[in-house]
Amino acid sequence: MNILVTGGAGYIGSHTCVALLESGHSVIVADNLSNSNIKTIEKITEITGENVKFCKMDVTDSDAVDDIFKSYPIDGVIHFAGFKAVGESVVKPMEYYFNNVVSTMLLANACIDYGVKKFVFSSSATVYGDNNVPFVEDMDLLPTTNPYGETKAMSERILRDLAKANTSFSPSILRYFNPVGAHESGVIGESPNGIPNNLMPYVTKVAKGKIRKLKVFGSDYSTVDGTGVRDFIHVMDLAEGHVAAIESPCEGVSIYNLGTGKGTSVLELIRTFKDTNKVEVPFEFVDRRPGDIASCYADVSKIRKDLGWNAKRDLTEMCKDAWLFENNYSIEH
Ligand code: WQD
Repeated sequence: MNILVTGGAGYIGSHTCVALLESGHSVIVADNLSNSNIKTIEKITEITGENVKFCKMDVTDSDAVDDIFKSYPIDGVIHFAGFKAVGESVVKPMEYYFNNVVSTMLLANACIDYGVKKFVFSSSATVYGDNNVPFVEDMDLLPTTNPYGETKAMSERILRDLAKANTSFSPSILRYFNPVGAHESGVIGESPNGIPNNLMPYVTKVAKGKIRKLKVFGSDYSTVDGTGVRDFIHVMDLAEGHVAAIESPCEGVSIYNLGTGKGTSVLELIRTFKDTNKVEVPFEFVDRRPGDIASCYADVSKIRKDLGWNAKRDLTEMCKDAWLFENNYSIEH
């Protein structure tokens, strides 16, 4: 299939391009490079030996969206492009609502206009709010604590309504848990601009000595050791979940958790990183981070049953590959 990947130069997008190309699909990347680098496109080719078509464009520009659907015979769309910093979304809500919701509307509309059935959407476990774990797809969604989360919940509702009104449009909504790690080659990975917000990029920077100490947010949650529990998933497992979704013959709207089904605490992750990579990760406990919940992990039975997809890589591989990428990336920067 010819797959349009928006945000294909970004962290999850680039790994998904690799998985798509390795499964025999062709890829057209649409990215405005606002939080990514054109070199990533060359790196996708370096890993796979396959060419990638690249369009520098903004998916909130309706003429540009129309043009790309006219220019290529697109069989499916995977929509990653969007803003993703939770804290920033509180400060710049309009940018988040506009960018994340308008892009989804324009792309879904183009799919309907051009007869493209498959649309895979990057959603987030954040839409579950502070529900009881494990999170199951048919739970009532609770309000999230920030505009970023609301853009995901709104986009999901829009896609569901569109699929009801257009039976030939079949969106798959993928709710990501906590993607970490990098391609096993260490050639592509997560390279956030500035100080990272998320745990794993912070851990790798501390291990590398670029940041002095990791702050562990909260030690008094009612979890196994008092620190937050998350469902960390290797980014290549996540990427392969997208391939399974785009290839799926499912009709109508389908919603899937993309996680491992296993909760890991912040301290467990630090310990595994240290033991796997034989490197120190100095840390200190500080207050809880506002908006954080104690535990977040997936029930993954639905995606296993419907798509036959299962996360294959364990926490050790996530830590090993994140560290390999950090070391490669540090040579270049
Ligand atoms: C994980 C755990 C922190 C940093 C967020 C978004 C979600 C998704 C993924 C987007 C928590 C703790 C973290 C640090 C720490 N979105 N932590 N010290 O908050 O589960 O999910 O990213 O792209 O929508 O909400 O991920 O990696 O920030 O935190 O102790 O310096 O690590 O408190 O328990 P989170 P995270």
